[in-house]
Amino acid sequence: MVAALGLSTGAAQAQGAYPARPITMIVPFAAGGPTDVVARIVGEHMSRTLGQQIVVENVAGAGGTTGITRGAQAQGDGYTIMMGHMGTHGAAPALYPNLRYDPAKDFAPIGLAAGTPIIIVAKKDFPPADLKGFVEYSKANAAKLNGAHAGVGSVSHSTGVLLNSILGIKPTLVAYRGTGPALNDLMAGTVDFMTDQIVNVAPQIQAGTIKAYAIATPERSPALPDVPTTKEAGLPNYEVSAWNAIFAPKSTPKEVTAKLVDALDKALDDENTRKRLVELGGVIPSKTERTPDALQKLVESEVARWTPVLKEAGATAQ
Ligand code: MLT
Repeated sequence: MVAALGLSTGAAQAQGAYPARPITMIVPFAAGGPTDVVARIVGEHMSRTLGQQIVVENVAGAGGTTGITRGAQAQGDGYTIMMGHMGTHGAAPALYPNLRYDPAKDFAPIGLAAGTPIIIVAKKDFPPADLKGFVEYSKANAAKLNGAHAGVGSVSHSTGVLLNSILGIKPTLVAYRGTGPALNDLMAGTVDFMTDQIVNVAPQIQAGTIKAYAIATPERSPALPDVPTTKEAGLPNYEVSAWNAIFAPKSTPKEVTAKLVDALDKALDDENTRKRLVELGGVIPSKTERTPDALQKLVESEVARWTPVLKEAGATAQ
């Protein structure tokens, strides 16, 4: 039987037994930020389906590209997977001429884990009361403003560059190893503003420890019904959303990726997992949006979308 399938006994046993030990999920940013939060929520349920623990390893640096490079180069045995996102697999190629992975060619896509709308947030005592005021104030005071982000090529960086380019401002950009630590500084008031994924900032907006000016999606989020959309608040051309998705190294066998795809699908069908993501403002991908093929197409379209936007905005890794 094994011979008929063209597998060596060892390989067949290894695949049949998968997963026989814990799986490492590389999160390419600091713990506590949006990528980490999505990875831990989804990974918890996937661990139950797979019968093995998914252990998150935070490998931060270079806007997420350090961790994703490590993941792309890992052995394709199903024991190393990674949580990538719109930055690592959409924006980064435009900003790193020597990027050591091709988002569209060097991965076995597993599936989309969550859509994450972008929100314009600021420290609590930032003077403007609403988005129109934010626009005026930022234009008048750009030189003394500090905008936080999670490294060149990250979601907060790319979406921030886009906002700054629409406003025609050049604030000082302050890089962190993730928007988890950036949010701490925003709460402390040592940086002024950032554009971040809702799953990171929703609890602090609800608690009133930071200010939210607008959500950059066509509709408001049920998690933050009082936050207006950018269109409602007077900045209709700033519409941008992010996403987080699981990838395996390209050489991972199909039998193994199929188990990961199934575990992700079950996690996203699980009521408690969905509730935890939705409470943070995450958007649950539909059955068709969460397939490996749909993710492959999304990556290709995101690279095509972000490359001209970032080039036009004059963004570089330097
Ligand atoms: C980003 O801006 O790319 C993310 O917020 C990174 C993170 O998970 O901290």
